Amino acid sequence: MWTIPILIGSVRRGRQSPKAARFIKTCMEATGKIRSPFLDLLEIALPVMEERLSERDDPPPGLADLSRAIASSDALVIVTPEYNNGIPGSLKNALDYLYDEFSHKPVGVVTISGGPYGGVNCLAQLRPVLLTMGAYPIAEKLPIAKIDEALSEEGISRGPSLQNRAKAFIDELLWVTERFASVRKT
Ligand SMILES: Cc1cc2nc3c(=O)[nH]c(=O)nc-3n(C[C@H](O)[C@H](O)[C@H](O)COP(=O)(O)O)c2cc1C
Repeated sequence: MWTIPILIGSVRRGRQSPKAARFIKTCMEATGKIRSPFLDLLEIALPVMEERLSERDDPPPGLADLSRAIASSDALVIVTPEYNNGIPGSLKNALDYLYDEFSHKPVGVVTISGGPYGGVNCLAQLRPVLLTMGAYPIAEKLPIAKIDEALSEEGISRGPSLQNRAKAFIDELLWVTERFASVRKT
């Protein structure tokens, strides 16, 4: 069983990202191969980053747990909205606290947007950030456009197309996770 947490990058009032997080969690756990606890930045409520965790002897509450959860995971899924064609500050703020936790970490990115493009600009900006931290952002993407209509509150998809795309995303994530794990063992 692989442990692949889902980091929820939005803390906005009335946020819709949890719908996408519930959707991808259900799809991932339905494989029977993955356990996907949520790492929710709204719950962790990190203050604006004054210094990285590695340089702090007074880390804000929740940060050490977040660090451990990512470091000990087999891979990570990030669910993030696109804000102003880019990465939401809440997510970038959390990432900037961390670094070593992402070394050789396979990361799948699920983006959501209110508009028709599913957050692909956010994805394009997030990939080089993750690479800089030593992570391995997988090639498959899962942009979810018009999030208002795409998923119910419980994260249920209204049509088969999103489920098919989610399957391709999870297949690729599992493929990469398994290969990275086998190299780590040698
Ligand atoms: C500050 C802000 C900027 C946004 N910018 C974009 C954008 O550039 N493109 C887009 O398609 N949607 C944009 N939206 C719509 C969001 O993608 C949509 O509201 C989505 O639900 C946000 O995720 P959240 O509900 O988890 O915060 C923006 C929303 C906010 C609050």
